[in-house]
Amino acid sequence: MIYARIAGTGSYLPGDPVTNADLVSRGIETSDDWIVERTGIRSRHLAGPDIGSSELARLASERAISAAGLVPDDIDLIIVATSTPDYIFPSTATLLQAKLGIVNGCAAFDVQAVCSGFIYGLTVAEKFIRSGSHRRALVVGAEVFSRILDWSDRGTCVLFGDGAGAVVLEASDKPGILASALHADGSHHPILCVPGGVAAGQVVGDPFLRMDGQAVFKFAVKVLGDVALEVAEAGRMKLGDLDWLIPHQANVRILQATAKRLGLAMDRVITTVDRHGNTSAASIPLALDLAVRDGRIGRGQRVLLEGVGGGFTWGAALLEF
Ligand code: UT7
Repeated sequence: MIYARIAGTGSYLPGDPVTNADLVSRGIETSDDWIVERTGIRSRHLAGPDIGSSELARLASERAISAAGLVPDDIDLIIVATSTPDYIFPSTATLLQAKLGIVNGCAAFDVQAVCSGFIYGLTVAEKFIRSGSHRRALVVGAEVFSRILDWSDRGTCVLFGDGAGAVVLEASDKPGILASALHADGSHHPILCVPGGVAAGQVVGDPFLRMDGQAVFKFAVKVLGDVALEVAEAGRMKLGDLDWLIPHQANVRILQATAKRLGLAMDRVITTVDRHGNTSAASIPLALDLAVRDGRIGRGQRVLLEGVGGGFTWGAALLEF
């Protein structure tokens, strides 16, 4: 039996933390008290204008490949989850392949599932590996959401940050990913979207992120609870036996409500939203890498990753690290 196991993790955050007070001093009509009370966010990282998702992905990927004890040409599949690609095309994954100097001709493509993108990418990579067609997949979540924020909309611009996280998923005879689930319901697309595009050299529609925060909040809490129960059952594991839960990092109140519904104490939930804000597809691999590097997550531990995002999409992966 071939399993897919995480062999190494890496992440990258651009620049210095930008605090809530920094946003106020930049003229945003908000306060540290409001942001902390409603979201738990204290700071985030914002990329400069010369750094895009592929560069954040490169820096995270180099760390993940090195942590796995590999060199870039060992990778035979690249999947990048992003909603903020450098270009309309080519994909960020092919740009990443070139930046990493991978010349073995391996497959490279992006997945677009917004904040669930990393779970989608990981699950796709797992299927490739378990089929025996590929052995070492690089799965990355990389975002520069600061580029699609309307900085005059205080209801959204304070929530997001930029960054990237990556894992190397490797074929193994020991179990790694024990169960996974992916879902989508496109009928909810209006409550979180960037409803614009480019045609004839012009932006058509609205190029900024728009959100009905309360509708998203309720939807997120429901599906994060449901999908955690679904994968725990599929992996024949009691939630109480989990070592760590890593939900998509959107709002600490969503994390608390999810943990409460699942009967888990908050000290089992990896939380980075306070320092990273919501980094969309990057948030889960960023949180995973942080907890691996600070020693909280170690080999053999049981970890549940779960995401929810625009589309709507949602999904989870249960793994033995
Ligand atoms: O990856 C998934 C993406 N997003 C999410 O998961 C976000 C889910 N939603 C949320 O996290 C919350 O709904 C928000 C944090 C976005 C908003 O919190 P809320 O408790 O739902 O606040 P609200 O939208 O009901 O706004 C309450 C008040 C309003 O003022 P009035 O109408 O009561 O006078 C807003 O204008 O707070 C005001 N407000 C702000 N005040 C200071 C909204 N944004 C801000 C702000 N600073 N940044």
